[in-house]
Amino acid sequence: MLEINSAQDLVDCLLIAGDRLVILDFYSPGCGGCKALHPKICQLAEMNPDSIFLKVNFEQHKVMCHALHVHVLPFFRFYRGADGRLCSFSCTNATIKKFKDAIAKHGTDRCSLGPAQGLNDSELLALASHGLISKNSIPNPTENDKFESLVLEDTGAPFALA
Ligand SMILES: *[C@@H]1O[C@H](CO)[C@@H](O)[C@H](O)[C@H]1NC(C)=O
Ligand SMILES: *[C@@H]1O[C@H](CO)[C@@H](O)[C@H](O)[C@H]1NC(C)=O
Repeated sequence: MLEINSAQDLVDCLLIAGDRLVILDFYSPGCGGCKALHPKICQLAEMNPDSIFLKVNFEQHKVMCHALHVHVLPFFRFYRGADGRLCSFSCTNATIKKFKDAIAKHGTDRCSLGPAQGLNDSELLALASHGLISKNSIPNPTENDKFESLVLEDTGAPFALA
């Protein structure tokens, strides 16, 4: 499993993954549920060598996680190519079936036409508004203008970590 070091790193990893399934694992070192789940996630990563497993340390990337609307841990997001985000869910050692079902559903080889989408426009804007990525990373800026007010409003919102 690869550790994500910055928002730009995450944006880049999602884009260069091409058509491969990418699984984002949001965790924190102090989260017991994450620790309990970790060995199983590692096993599943070994069993799915064609998928890319990426870890995001919530404690080190709080602003980014907030911008991506991650509020509970452990938390997972699946992405593939032009389809962008496929699913998003929390899961524990007891509910690992959720994760296995998601892999079974999305892990089979298939081809999504077009370039990888990665994060969506409003997520990229939220990251850029916090200075975590360069505005140049956002394609099609005119299309994005309408999200701006929405994103700026959102940055004042409190967030809680369960
Ligand atoms: C995780 O769940 C399994 C049962 O599925 C159990 O045997 C194991 O002890 C649990 N592990 C932890 C760390 O809670
Ligand atoms: C982008 O992702 C966010 C979650 O981070 C979601 O709430 C939002 O609806 C998505 N926006 C678009 C335009 O798909």
